[in-house]
Amino acid sequence: MANISTSTSFFMFVMVLLSSRLIHNCFSFDTCHPMYQEHAIPIYKEDIDMMQFAENLEHLEADFFLWGALGYGLDQVAPWLVMGGPPPIGAQRANLDSLTQHIIEEFAYQEVGHLRALKTTVGGFPRPLIDLSAHHFAKVFDEAFGFKLVPPFDPYRDSVSYMLGSYVIPYVGLVAYVGTNPNINGYITKRLLAGLLGVEAGQDAVIRSYLYERAKEVVHPYNRTVAEFTNRISELRNLLGMCGIKDEGIKVPLKLGAENRTRSNVLSANYYSLSYRRTPREILRIVYGTGDEHVPGGFFPHGANGRIAREFLEKP
Ligand SMILES: *[C@@H]1O[C@H](CO)[C@@H](O)[C@H](O)[C@H]1NC(C)=O
Ligand SMILES: *[C@@H]1O[C@H](CO)[C@@H](O)[C@H](O)[C@H]1NC(C)=O
Repeated sequence: MANISTSTSFFMFVMVLLSSRLIHNCFSFDTCHPMYQEHAIPIYKEDIDMMQFAENLEHLEADFFLWGALGYGLDQVAPWLVMGGPPPIGAQRANLDSLTQHIIEEFAYQEVGHLRALKTTVGGFPRPLIDLSAHHFAKVFDEAFGFKLVPPFDPYRDSVSYMLGSYVIPYVGLVAYVGTNPNINGYITKRLLAGLLGVEAGQDAVIRSYLYERAKEVVHPYNRTVAEFTNRISELRNLLGMCGIKDEGIKVPLKLGAENRTRSNVLSANYYSLSYRRTPREILRIVYGTGDEHVPGGFFPHGANGRIAREFLEKP
Protein backbone atom coordinates (compact mmCIF):
# COMPACT_ATOMS: atom_id res chain seq x y z
CA MET A 1 0.00 0.00 0.00
CA ALA A 2 2.73 2.39 1.06
CA ASN A 3 4.55 1.71 -2.18
CA ILE A 4 1.51 2.45 -4.27
CA SER A 5 0.78 5.70 -2.52
CA THR A 6 4.42 6.76 -2.84
CA SER A 7 4.44 6.11 -6.56
CA THR A 8 1.05 7.80 -6.91
CA SER A 9 2.26 10.93 -5.21
CA PHE A 10 5.43 10.89 -7.28
CA PHE A 11 3.23 10.62 -10.37
CA MET A 12 1.11 13.54 -9.17
CA PHE A 13 4.25 15.56 -8.51
CA VAL A 14 5.48 14.96 -12.09
CA MET A 15 2.06 15.88 -13.47
CA VAL A 16 2.03 19.15 -11.53
CA LEU A 17 5.52 19.93 -12.79
CA LEU A 18 4.54 19.11 -16.36
CA SER A 19 1.30 21.05 -16.31
CA SER A 20 2.89 24.12 -14.76
CA ARG A 21 5.51 23.91 -17.49
CA LEU A 22 2.74 23.61 -20.08
CA ILE A 23 0.90 26.57 -18.62
CA HIS A 24 4.14 28.53 -18.55
CA ASN A 25 4.78 27.72 -22.20
CA CYS A 26 1.28 28.75 -23.21
CA PHE A 27 1.49 32.09 -21.53
CA SER A 28 5.06 33.11 -22.15
CA PHE A 29 5.67 31.76 -25.64
CA ASP A 30 2.75 30.75 -27.79
CA THR A 31 4.04 28.22 -30.30
CA CYS A 32 0.77 27.74 -32.17
CA HIS A 33 -0.14 31.27 -33.09
CA PRO A 34 1.80 33.67 -35.28
CA MET A 35 3.59 36.63 -33.73
CA TYR A 36 3.02 39.92 -35.50
CA GLN A 37 5.37 42.84 -35.38
CA GLU A 38 4.70 45.36 -32.66
CA HIS A 39 2.30 48.10 -33.81
CA ALA A 40 1.30 45.99 -36.84
CA ILE A 41 -2.07 47.05 -38.21
CA PRO A 42 -4.64 44.29 -38.80
CA ILE A 43 -6.58 45.85 -41.68
CA TYR A 44 -5.70 49.05 -43.53
CA LYS A 45 -8.57 51.18 -44.78
CA GLU A 46 -7.13 50.81 -48.32
CA ASP A 47 -7.28 47.00 -48.07
CA ILE A 48 -11.04 46.93 -47.75
CA ASP A 49 -12.15 47.81 -51.29
CA MET A 50 -9.53 45.54 -52.81
CA MET A 51 -10.58 42.55 -50.74
CA GLN A 52 -14.28 43.31 -51.25
CA PHE A 53 -13.70 43.27 -55.02
CA ALA A 54 -12.97 39.54 -54.69
CA GLU A 55 -16.49 38.93 -53.37
CA ASN A 56 -17.80 39.35 -56.92
CA LEU A 57 -15.75 36.40 -58.12
CA GLU A 58 -16.46 34.32 -55.02
CA HIS A 59 -20.19 34.88 -55.55
CA LEU A 60 -19.89 33.77 -59.15
CA GLU A 61 -18.08 30.60 -58.10
CA ALA A 62 -20.35 29.88 -55.12
CA ASP A 63 -23.56 29.87 -57.12
CA PHE A 64 -22.09 28.13 -60.18
CA PHE A 65 -20.71 25.28 -58.07
CA LEU A 66 -23.64 25.02 -55.64
CA TRP A 67 -26.21 24.90 -58.43
CA GLY A 68 -24.04 22.56 -60.54
CA ALA A 69 -23.60 20.03 -57.72
CA LEU A 70 -26.81 20.42 -55.71
CA GLY A 71 -29.44 22.06 -57.88
CA TYR A 72 -29.82 25.04 -55.53
CA GLY A 73 -27.67 27.99 -54.60
CA LEU A 74 -26.56 30.44 -51.93
CA ASP A 75 -30.15 31.57 -51.29
CA GLN A 76 -30.82 28.13 -49.78
CA VAL A 77 -27.39 27.34 -48.33
CA ALA A 78 -26.41 30.65 -46.72
CA PRO A 79 -29.04 33.33 -47.41
CA TRP A 80 -27.38 35.84 -45.02
CA LEU A 81 -24.41 36.02 -47.40
CA VAL A 82 -26.63 37.07 -50.31
CA MET A 83 -27.47 40.34 -48.50
CA GLY A 84 -30.57 40.89 -50.61
CA GLY A 85 -28.95 40.53 -54.04
CA PRO A 86 -31.01 39.07 -56.92
CA PRO A 87 -30.91 35.32 -57.67
CA PRO A 88 -28.59 34.21 -60.49
CA ILE A 89 -30.00 33.81 -64.01
CA GLY A 90 -30.29 30.33 -65.51
CA ALA A 91 -28.29 28.36 -62.92
CA GLN A 92 -29.09 24.66 -62.86
CA ARG A 93 -27.94 21.29 -61.64
CA ALA A 94 -25.37 19.67 -63.93
CA ASN A 95 -25.46 16.08 -65.10
CA LEU A 96 -22.31 14.94 -63.24
CA ASP A 97 -20.76 11.55 -62.58
CA SER A 98 -20.02 10.78 -58.94
CA LEU A 99 -16.31 11.80 -58.95
CA THR A 100 -17.08 15.18 -60.53
CA GLN A 101 -20.09 15.63 -58.27
CA HIS A 102 -17.90 15.18 -55.17
CA ILE A 103 -15.24 17.59 -56.41
CA ILE A 104 -17.75 20.29 -57.31
CA GLU A 105 -19.78 19.92 -54.13
CA GLU A 106 -16.61 20.42 -52.09
CA PHE A 107 -15.61 23.47 -54.17
CA ALA A 108 -19.13 24.83 -53.69
CA TYR A 109 -18.98 24.72 -49.90
CA GLN A 110 -15.42 26.11 -49.98
CA GLU A 111 -16.79 29.17 -51.79
CA VAL A 112 -19.40 29.59 -49.06
CA GLY A 113 -16.54 29.59 -46.53
CA HIS A 114 -14.64 32.14 -48.61
CA LEU A 115 -17.63 34.45 -48.70
CA ARG A 116 -18.07 34.07 -44.93
CA ALA A 117 -14.39 34.87 -44.38
CA LEU A 118 -14.46 37.91 -46.68
CA LYS A 119 -17.74 39.37 -45.49
CA THR A 120 -16.95 38.97 -41.79
CA THR A 121 -13.42 40.39 -42.19
CA VAL A 122 -13.84 43.32 -44.60
CA GLY A 123 -17.62 43.67 -44.82
CA GLY A 124 -19.59 43.08 -47.95
CA PHE A 125 -22.18 44.11 -50.47
CA PRO A 126 -25.24 42.34 -51.90
CA ARG A 127 -24.60 39.61 -54.44
CA PRO A 128 -24.58 41.17 -57.92
CA LEU A 129 -26.83 39.82 -60.67
CA ILE A 130 -24.96 36.84 -62.15
CA ASP A 131 -25.75 35.15 -65.48
CA LEU A 132 -25.07 31.42 -65.18
CA SER A 133 -27.34 30.40 -68.05
CA ALA A 134 -26.23 27.76 -70.55
CA HIS A 135 -27.00 30.43 -73.16
CA HIS A 136 -24.32 32.74 -71.75
CA PHE A 137 -21.70 29.97 -71.60
CA ALA A 138 -22.58 29.06 -75.20
CA LYS A 139 -21.90 32.65 -76.22
CA VAL A 140 -18.49 32.62 -74.48
CA PHE A 141 -17.52 29.36 -76.17
CA ASP A 142 -18.71 30.59 -79.60
CA GLU A 143 -16.52 33.66 -79.15
CA ALA A 144 -13.61 31.46 -78.08
CA PHE A 145 -13.91 29.36 -81.26
CA GLY A 146 -14.79 32.22 -83.56
CA PHE A 147 -17.86 30.38 -84.91
CA LYS A 148 -21.12 28.98 -83.61
CA LEU A 149 -20.82 25.54 -82.04
CA VAL A 150 -23.70 23.29 -83.06
CA PRO A 151 -25.49 22.39 -80.84
CA PRO A 152 -24.71 25.34 -78.53
CA PHE A 153 -22.18 24.54 -75.78
CA ASP A 154 -23.94 23.59 -72.53
CA PRO A 155 -21.81 23.39 -69.35
CA TYR A 156 -24.59 21.46 -67.58
CA ARG A 157 -24.68 18.68 -70.23
CA ASP A 158 -22.09 16.33 -68.69
CA SER A 159 -19.01 16.19 -66.45
CA VAL A 160 -16.39 17.24 -69.02
CA SER A 161 -18.58 20.11 -70.25
CA TYR A 162 -19.03 21.25 -66.66
CA MET A 163 -15.28 21.13 -66.00
CA LEU A 164 -14.70 23.14 -69.18
CA GLY A 165 -17.26 25.65 -67.90
CA SER A 166 -15.38 25.71 -64.58
CA TYR A 167 -12.02 26.19 -66.33
CA VAL A 168 -13.18 29.76 -66.91
CA ILE A 169 -13.72 30.51 -63.22
CA PRO A 170 -11.28 29.82 -60.29
CA TYR A 171 -8.35 30.77 -62.52
CA VAL A 172 -9.67 34.30 -62.79
CA GLY A 173 -9.92 34.42 -58.98
CA LEU A 174 -6.40 33.09 -58.63
CA VAL A 175 -4.75 35.66 -60.93
CA ALA A 176 -6.82 38.41 -59.30
CA TYR A 177 -5.49 37.46 -55.85
CA VAL A 178 -1.92 37.36 -57.12
CA GLY A 179 -2.50 40.84 -58.56
CA THR A 180 -4.01 42.18 -55.32
CA ASN A 181 -1.29 40.80 -53.06
CA PRO A 182 1.31 43.60 -53.39
CA ASN A 183 -1.34 46.23 -52.58
CA ILE A 184 -2.58 44.70 -49.33
CA ASN A 185 -0.96 45.85 -46.09
CA GLY A 186 -2.78 44.67 -42.99
CA TYR A 187 -1.71 41.39 -41.43
CA ILE A 188 -5.29 40.16 -41.16
CA THR A 189 -6.05 41.00 -44.80
CA LYS A 190 -2.76 39.47 -45.96
CA ARG A 191 -3.52 36.28 -44.11
CA LEU A 192 -7.01 36.22 -45.59
CA LEU A 193 -5.69 36.77 -49.10
CA ALA A 194 -3.05 34.04 -48.82
CA GLY A 195 -5.64 31.58 -47.54
CA LEU A 196 -8.05 32.37 -50.38
CA LEU A 197 -5.27 32.29 -52.97
CA GLY A 198 -4.13 28.86 -51.81
CA VAL A 199 -7.54 27.26 -52.20
CA GLU A 200 -8.37 29.00 -55.52
CA ALA A 201 -5.03 27.80 -56.90
CA GLY A 202 -5.82 24.31 -55.65
CA GLN A 203 -9.25 24.31 -57.30
CA ASP A 204 -7.72 25.53 -60.55
CA ALA A 205 -5.09 22.77 -60.37
CA VAL A 206 -7.74 20.10 -59.80
CA ILE A 207 -9.80 21.33 -62.76
CA ARG A 208 -6.76 21.57 -65.00
CA SER A 209 -5.38 18.14 -64.14
CA TYR A 210 -8.87 16.66 -64.63
CA LEU A 211 -8.91 18.20 -68.12
CA TYR A 212 -5.27 17.30 -68.78
CA GLU A 213 -6.07 13.65 -68.15
CA ARG A 214 -8.69 13.93 -70.90
CA ALA A 215 -6.71 16.29 -73.15
CA LYS A 216 -6.96 14.11 -76.25
CA GLU A 217 -10.61 13.17 -75.79
CA VAL A 218 -13.16 14.70 -78.08
CA VAL A 219 -15.73 16.90 -76.33
CA HIS A 220 -19.08 15.37 -77.15
CA PRO A 221 -20.85 16.26 -79.50
CA TYR A 222 -18.13 18.44 -81.08
CA ASN A 223 -15.23 17.17 -83.10
CA ARG A 224 -12.76 19.15 -80.95
CA THR A 225 -10.46 17.92 -78.20
CA VAL A 226 -10.49 18.98 -74.57
CA ALA A 227 -7.01 20.51 -75.11
CA GLU A 228 -8.28 22.66 -77.98
CA PHE A 229 -11.20 23.88 -75.87
CA THR A 230 -8.83 25.03 -73.12
CA ASN A 231 -6.51 26.77 -75.58
CA ARG A 232 -9.39 28.62 -77.22
CA ILE A 233 -10.80 29.80 -73.89
CA SER A 234 -7.39 30.94 -72.65
CA GLU A 235 -6.81 32.85 -75.91
CA LEU A 236 -10.18 34.55 -75.54
CA ARG A 237 -9.33 35.64 -72.00
CA ASN A 238 -5.99 37.02 -73.12
CA LEU A 239 -7.77 38.94 -75.86
CA LEU A 240 -10.37 40.37 -73.46
CA GLY A 241 -7.80 41.17 -70.74
CA MET A 242 -5.74 43.20 -73.26
CA CYS A 243 -2.46 42.75 -71.38
CA GLY A 244 -0.67 40.01 -73.31
CA ILE A 245 -0.44 36.33 -72.42
CA LYS A 246 -1.51 35.65 -68.84
CA ASP A 247 -3.54 32.58 -69.51
CA GLU A 248 -2.47 29.33 -71.16
CA GLY A 249 -4.29 26.11 -72.15
CA ILE A 250 -3.27 22.65 -70.95
CA LYS A 251 -1.04 21.94 -73.99
CA VAL A 252 1.30 24.65 -75.24
CA PRO A 253 4.19 25.25 -77.63
CA LEU A 254 7.56 24.67 -75.90
CA LYS A 255 8.20 28.38 -75.55
CA LEU A 256 5.30 28.62 -73.09
CA GLY A 257 6.11 25.40 -71.21
CA ALA A 258 8.17 25.19 -68.00
CA GLU A 259 11.76 26.32 -68.77
CA ASN A 260 10.99 25.89 -72.51
CA ARG A 261 11.05 22.14 -71.96
CA THR A 262 7.45 20.95 -71.65
CA ARG A 263 4.46 20.92 -73.96
CA SER A 264 2.28 19.81 -71.09
CA ASN A 265 0.90 22.75 -69.19
CA VAL A 266 -1.05 21.33 -66.28
CA LEU A 267 -0.55 24.69 -64.55
CA SER A 268 -0.62 28.05 -66.28
CA ALA A 269 2.40 30.13 -65.26
CA ASN A 270 4.85 32.75 -66.54
CA TYR A 271 8.51 32.74 -67.66
CA TYR A 272 9.64 32.00 -64.09
CA SER A 273 6.82 29.48 -63.56
CA LEU A 274 5.17 32.00 -61.24
CA SER A 275 1.40 32.50 -61.35
CA TYR A 276 0.26 35.30 -63.62
CA ARG A 277 -1.44 38.30 -62.04
CA ARG A 278 -4.25 40.52 -63.21
CA THR A 279 -5.60 43.91 -62.07
CA PRO A 280 -9.29 44.51 -61.30
CA ARG A 281 -9.59 46.26 -64.71
CA GLU A 282 -8.40 43.16 -66.54
CA ILE A 283 -10.63 40.90 -64.44
CA LEU A 284 -13.69 43.02 -65.23
CA ARG A 285 -12.91 43.07 -68.97
CA ILE A 286 -12.86 39.27 -68.87
CA VAL A 287 -15.86 38.53 -66.67
CA TYR A 288 -17.97 41.18 -68.45
CA GLY A 289 -16.92 39.58 -71.74
CA THR A 290 -16.79 43.06 -73.24
CA GLY A 291 -13.05 43.73 -73.04
CA ASP A 292 -14.03 47.01 -71.32
CA GLU A 293 -14.20 47.49 -67.54
CA HIS A 294 -16.72 50.32 -68.11
CA VAL A 295 -19.19 48.15 -70.06
CA PRO A 296 -20.94 45.45 -68.02
CA GLY A 297 -22.18 42.18 -69.52
CA GLY A 298 -21.27 38.51 -69.59
CA PHE A 299 -21.38 36.96 -66.13
CA PHE A 300 -22.40 40.33 -64.62
CA PRO A 301 -25.17 41.85 -66.79
CA HIS A 302 -25.56 44.84 -64.41
CA GLY A 303 -21.88 45.05 -63.50
CA ALA A 304 -19.94 43.88 -60.47
CA ASN A 305 -20.48 45.43 -57.01
CA GLY A 306 -18.20 47.30 -54.62
CA ARG A 307 -16.43 50.63 -54.92
CA ILE A 308 -13.75 49.55 -57.44
CA ALA A 309 -16.15 48.07 -60.01
CA ARG A 310 -18.78 50.79 -59.49
CA GLU A 311 -16.29 53.59 -60.11
CA PHE A 312 -15.44 52.17 -63.53
CA LEU A 313 -19.15 51.97 -64.35
CA GLU A 314 -19.82 55.55 -63.29
CA LYS A 315 -16.84 57.09 -65.12
CA PRO A 316 -16.74 55.74 -68.67
C1 LIG B 1 -12.80 15.42 -86.91
O1 LIG B 1 -11.62 16.20 -87.00
C2 LIG B 1 -10.52 15.48 -87.54
C3 LIG B 1 -9.28 16.38 -87.44
O2 LIG B 1 -9.60 17.72 -87.58
C4 LIG B 1 -10.86 15.06 -88.97
O3 LIG B 1 -9.79 14.33 -89.53
C5 LIG B 1 -12.12 14.21 -88.97
O4 LIG B 1 -12.52 13.89 -90.29
C6 LIG B 1 -13.26 14.93 -88.25
N1 LIG B 1 -14.38 14.04 -88.09
C7 LIG B 1 -15.65 14.40 -88.31
C8 LIG B 1 -16.69 13.36 -88.06
O5 LIG B 1 -15.96 15.54 -88.65
C1 LIG C 1 12.74 30.29 -73.91
O1 LIG C 1 13.11 30.54 -75.24
C2 LIG C 1 13.01 31.90 -75.65
C3 LIG C 1 13.41 31.99 -77.10
O2 LIG C 1 12.66 31.12 -77.87
C4 LIG C 1 13.92 32.76 -74.78
O3 LIG C 1 13.74 34.12 -75.11
C5 LIG C 1 13.58 32.55 -73.31
O4 LIG C 1 14.50 33.23 -72.50
C6 LIG C 1 13.59 31.08 -72.95
N1 LIG C 1 13.08 30.90 -71.60
C7 LIG C 1 13.81 30.35 -70.61
C8 LIG C 1 13.15 30.23 -69.27
O5 LIG C 1 14.94 29.96 -70.77
